[in-house]
Amino acid sequence: IKVDGKTIELPVITGTEDEKAIDISKLRDLSGFITLDTGFKNTGSTKSKITFLDGEKGILKYRGYSIEQLAEKSSFLEVAYLIVYGDLPTQEQLDGFQAEIAKHTLIHEDMKKFFDGYPSRSHPMGQLGSLIFSLSTFYPECLKPNQTAEEQNLTIIKLLAKLPTIVSFIYKKSLGHPLIYPKNKYDYVTNFLWMTFGQRTEDYDVNPIVVSAMNKLLILHADHEQNCSASTVRIVGSSDCNLYASIAAGIAALWGPLHGGANQAVIDMLELIKEDGGDTEKWINKAKDKEDPFRMMGFGHRVYKNFDPRAKIIKKACDDILENLGIDDPILEIAKKLEEAALTDQYFIDRKLYPNVDFYSGIIYRALGFPSEMFTVLFALGRLPGWIAQWKEMHENKEPIGRPRQIYVGETDREFVDI
Ligand code: MLT
Repeated sequence: IKVDGKTIELPVITGTEDEKAIDISKLRDLSGFITLDTGFKNTGSTKSKITFLDGEKGILKYRGYSIEQLAEKSSFLEVAYLIVYGDLPTQEQLDGFQAEIAKHTLIHEDMKKFFDGYPSRSHPMGQLGSLIFSLSTFYPECLKPNQTAEEQNLTIIKLLAKLPTIVSFIYKKSLGHPLIYPKNKYDYVTNFLWMTFGQRTEDYDVNPIVVSAMNKLLILHADHEQNCSASTVRIVGSSDCNLYASIAAGIAALWGPLHGGANQAVIDMLELIKEDGGDTEKWINKAKDKEDPFRMMGFGHRVYKNFDPRAKIIKKACDDILENLGIDDPILEIAKKLEEAALTDQYFIDRKLYPNVDFYSGIIYRALGFPSEMFTVLFALGRLPGWIAQWKEMHENKEPIGRPRQIYVGETDREFVDI
């Protein structure tokens, strides 16, 4: 082929269709074929069978099922099964999955000693990342090279089972309250709510609206194709690093305010507006300022060009929760006014600055009583099946170790001078 008048000979790539598609490394040495893309931002050089996302049309599907149908008809555990194993479970498979998970919801008591050592005011994401990393020391079978499918599955089940326990422990610690251990008679999400909001002596008074909202929130966050955290999990896993350490790396990637930390940033922004007197009009005008526009957190999305399909579903759950719990919180009033302005103001409409999933999820978490520092941890709880599936798929594809091509732009041939 000719590129800029230069003839370049392409090598013949052999193998199955799949091998051809992933063997991009064979094209690496061709001059003129390198895309400078710091952080693999938009090269789209990966493929996956997990999540389909059309940013123009606002479509999101897991394994071919629309997010709207899954959020309406399925539990989070069913969706987790779908994402990890590829198909929705039959009732028998779901019961078996739930029973397997129930066997592993406790965490090692020694791990609790380790957890006790964190300062109670430390950021929940710092605690979460290091606790998940430490699973590889308490459950060292994950380190076994070439695990059989059963061994790998047990590693996966243990992680899915222990994450809700770990998240609720982190929450209880932030309050200085005693920890509550799992009750395996409950389903996955109710068990999490029990450990988080229940009392030691009585059964958790399950509010079906809260359980349903939590299921939806977790489903909507369960995967979002190869973004910052998912790609991190794949690239760390591509060195054959164990599942727990790979997921801990994904948790670190999620922590930042440009990714999972955005829902916390939304509430921090609403607090700021409240402290300033709560004049939303003033802050809307600040966002429109030509010289130095104020960044409205939770508005617009890098991939979705028209609307975030998750936001529509979550907005409804948000309205239900606020009404059901009869919450009277000035922050939530401010949020409602900003939402209304964004949906009706021509400036916001023209720039497609509609509220996204992070805007509403923060409001629901707040209404349920979670402090904003816990929000990203809850995002991680939802995203876990996605990360596991990304790690598993990368191995099933036998993808090579991640190794970005670097274009050196530093000094060349410097003379060494003794000082
Ligand atoms: C997500 O759900 O992971 C976020 O919307 C970020 C993204 O996909 O880039």
